[in-house]
Amino acid sequence: MKKSYKVAIVGATGVVGRTAIKILEEKNLPISEYVFFASKRSAGKIIEFKNKDYIVQELNENSFDSGFDFAIFSAGGETSQKFAPIAASKNCIVIDNSSTFRMNEDVPLVVPEVNPEEISNHHGIIANPNCSTIQAVVALKPLDDKYNIKRIVYSTYQAVSGAGKKGIDDLANGIKGFAPQKFPHPIYNNCLPHIDIFLDNSYTKEEEKMINETRKILKKPDLKITATAVRVPVFNSHSESINVEFEKEFNLYDLKKDLANSPGIIVKDDIENNLYPLAANATGNDEVFVGRIRRDFSVDSGVNLWVVADNIRKGAATNAIQIMEYMMK
Ligand SMILES: NC(=O)c1ccc[n+]([C@@H]2O[C@H](COP(=O)([O-])OP(=O)(O)OC[C@H]3O[C@@H](n4cnc5c(N)ncnc54)[C@H](OP(=O)(O)O)[C@@H]3O)[C@@H](O)[C@H]2O)c1
Repeated sequence: MKKSYKVAIVGATGVVGRTAIKILEEKNLPISEYVFFASKRSAGKIIEFKNKDYIVQELNENSFDSGFDFAIFSAGGETSQKFAPIAASKNCIVIDNSSTFRMNEDVPLVVPEVNPEEISNHHGIIANPNCSTIQAVVALKPLDDKYNIKRIVYSTYQAVSGAGKKGIDDLANGIKGFAPQKFPHPIYNNCLPHIDIFLDNSYTKEEEKMINETRKILKKPDLKITATAVRVPVFNSHSESINVEFEKEFNLYDLKKDLANSPGIIVKDDIENNLYPLAANATGNDEVFVGRIRRDFSVDSGVNLWVVADNIRKGAATNAIQIMEYMMK
């Protein structure tokens, strides 16, 4: 283990990058040097971090020449495509938040509570899964281990922060009556069953990401999964209804205990007192909240879950930093 590390945050001025910086400020990791990168637009801006002013640098081909240990990339797919291999070629381990490398066979797709063993298989790039996938698999992994998942039906209720600065602006400006700039329809007072682009099979790319990434992370390439991903007028934290069917029988009391005893999960399921996971309460937390846990009476062995997490923290920045922390140990 090295004594101290040099870390780059790429996309430091974005929603995920800023949150990563906030989390690094909260944690006390053995990092002696930070460099914050963004595009030309933000070069020269000041970021205050640990009582020091840092000047945002424009990312370029030579940015990684000065010997970085880790780079957390949150600057969109094109930036990752171009610059992550350059960083990796200079012995900098890249933890990438974009979807660019997630399904590459030689790139581990990691959620530390679920498949930390994959980290050591990296060749310079480790992918952070999609925000909606991360919170889902944290909840599903302990159930799959014990009851063997047969089929999953995802229905998501995703916050506008998942679409970055422009998504947040669309809701904030929509409330004031302005037309959307990011989404194809107004998001205020609305629900859009459309996240990312439509594919030839009529699914959206977001839905396809959830399906493929879940299969890869749970190491079940043929798992039956379907998904409907919906953008809702919530500023932050994604909510998901997850219907799961198992191969094995289960006892509901035990299943709740399995969830409660699993890393990264907080079970909030007290319906007598109207307590269940809520987006407004999940924001600012790193855990995945699970509630409304109830048997699906329409199948032999199935359960319904309501799963909520801060999509910018656990769904992106926290997960990436947890991977880096794991490697530092
Ligand atoms: N939001 C989420 O919930 C979430 C979750 C998981 C993964 N992600 C992924 O994380 C990435 C960032 O998302 P975000 O929500 O933070 O987006 P965002 O708020 O729009 O921020 C984008 C960041 O990327 C930078 N950037 C853009 N083009 C660049 C370039 N050519 N070179 C260097 N930096 C560049 C921007 O810098 P400027 O200030 O210079 O424009 C900004 O810092 C995306 O790949 C996204 O898919 C997001």
